Amino acid sequence: MAPDLGNRVGAGRPGWLTGAVLIVRDLVVEVGGKTIVDGATFQVRAGDKVGLVGRNGAGKTTLFRALGGATAPRSGQIRREGGTGYLSQDPRQDAVPDDTSCLAHVLSGRGLDVAAERLEKLRIALEEDPSERNIARFSTAQEQFENAEGYAAESEVRKLVDGLGLRSDRLDLTLGALSGGERRRLELARILFAGSDLLLLDEPTNHLDADARDWLLRFLRAYRGALLVISHDLDLLDEAITRVLHLDREGEDATGELVEYRGTYSQYLTARERDEERQAKLAERQESEIRRLSTLADKMRGQSAKRARIAKSLDKRVSRLADDKVEGPAARRRLDLRFPPPPPSGRTVLTATELWKSYGELDVFSDVSFDVGRGERLLIMGLNGAGKTTLLKVLAGQLQPDLGEVELGHQVSAGYYAQEHEGIVDGRSLLDHMREQAGLGDEQLRALMGMFGLSGDKAFQDAGTLSGGEKTKLALAQLVAGRHNLLLLDEPTNNLDPMSRTATGEALASWPGTMVVVSHDVEFVEALAPDRVLMMPEGQLDYFSPDALELVALA
Ligand SMILES: Nc1ncnc2c1ncn2[C@@H]1O[C@H](COP(=O)(O)OP(=O)(O)OP(=O)(O)O)[C@@H](O)[C@H]1O
Ligand SMILES: [Mg+2]
Repeated sequence: MAPDLGNRVGAGRPGWLTGAVLIVRDLVVEVGGKTIVDGATFQVRAGDKVGLVGRNGAGKTTLFRALGGATAPRSGQIRREGGTGYLSQDPRQDAVPDDTSCLAHVLSGRGLDVAAERLEKLRIALEEDPSERNIARFSTAQEQFENAEGYAAESEVRKLVDGLGLRSDRLDLTLGALSGGERRRLELARILFAGSDLLLLDEPTNHLDADARDWLLRFLRAYRGALLVISHDLDLLDEAITRVLHLDREGEDATGELVEYRGTYSQYLTARERDEERQAKLAERQESEIRRLSTLADKMRGQSAKRARIAKSLDKRVSRLADDKVEGPAARRRLDLRFPPPPPSGRTVLTATELWKSYGELDVFSDVSFDVGRGERLLIMGLNGAGKTTLLKVLAGQLQPDLGEVELGHQVSAGYYAQEHEGIVDGRSLLDHMREQAGLGDEQLRALMGMFGLSGDKAFQDAGTLSGGEKTKLALAQLVAGRHNLLLLDEPTNNLDPMSRTATGEALASWPGTMVVVSHDVEFVEALAPDRVLMMPEGQLDYFSPDALELVALA
């Protein structure tokens, strides 16, 4: 299908670079005393679409920040030609003040925000005092804005935002008023509007529903600039890219290596598997040769002088072999996750009665009533902005409804997983976070974190510096430590690398407690096999059927 390019800017703009857009030489990147890469060299040319993959915490985001110029590398060269558009994994950490107008923020992509804001100020001044001087100042500014194609730009922005599924009236709000999903769309709009030669996108499909995701896929396929993308969205990596850079950093203290593969993600997986098999075989052969020679040498020792000499030369060969030995790929570290059985609870776990919630003028939902029985799995569906996160917050007691009430059943303890990791605060260690869950000793808490791959000294790291996936894992470990029998989960698989995602999905799926879940992750929902679906904002309840799976990605 030909992509619908009517709504976007950038790809057709004149003056596109054709050569190398990003040149990286001998790059050394460090963070928190760890070496992420040491001596990486590669190039990205216009039209190249590169996926950057690696386990949670490997250092992908850290590397991106250096490539985009947000942080300085330890050493080496990074040359960027033309403009760079950078989408961060967590837009809340961007240094843009929350009271910035959304429209101005997008316009800032082409440096038009200052002119737009000045024009708005002069318009207000004119309204208050229609003096001749104010009229003249306003019309000069208007003319300048028009000459800079400011008006055309504004309508371009509205179309773009529409393509990404963000209601265009949201542009008139400030950044702080947007939900996580809306904020990401706006950032994408800004980057695409800027028409950069190089896009660095860190998990761009997080928080996007299927329409917006498809739109983005089409955009990226047709994009003529250079793209570097970090994603756990395998479809995106298969459809929109031509090369994979694997950031291979086995352990916490290991130095990473960038390994390049041509082709899509599936092709990379096959090639990688072959590489690992080959390496494992080689390692095995070398080991058995070392064993054979050592045994031989041991036998010869303590016999005749001649044999002792042979033994010595064998020893030398063994030590040479050992020096050059390749390491077999470490056994793929699977997370072995188990959620402890839930403490008993009453038969009705949660009752919501006539819930009503609005933000100012806007009713998010009105008159939503339902109940959840013990062991039941309720999936909340609805388009972006339909109030799924708001409803979960109300159920978790984090937000007061305007009307109605939420009642928990007998002996029910609810644990809440927040979509945007609001529960994880800067300046406190992982262990401090775990200690909030009463009743377990440090040993046990550290063992729980270890189960999620957060082991050793990691327990004392400032949780604010964790990677996206590590934050998800900490929040899940907190839930496990809390020994709840009701889990309220808002997109619990976002940010997880494929292996962790599967492990988390399986662990939750086999947990017999009660769950209320929001998720766009089809595989996860399939494993979970929900009993019922609550459609938002109407609050209509239905039994879950496999047909509904098609809607999961949409809603
Ligand atoms: N100040 C710090 N002190 C100690 N460790 C840190 C610090 N900042 C980052 N790290 C660690 O560096 C590693 C790399 O983080 P980064 O965010 O780059 O990972 P990532 O590959 O993007 O992971 P994800 O897939 O989870 O997003 C993580 O293990 C993180 O905890
Ligand atoms: Mg990251």
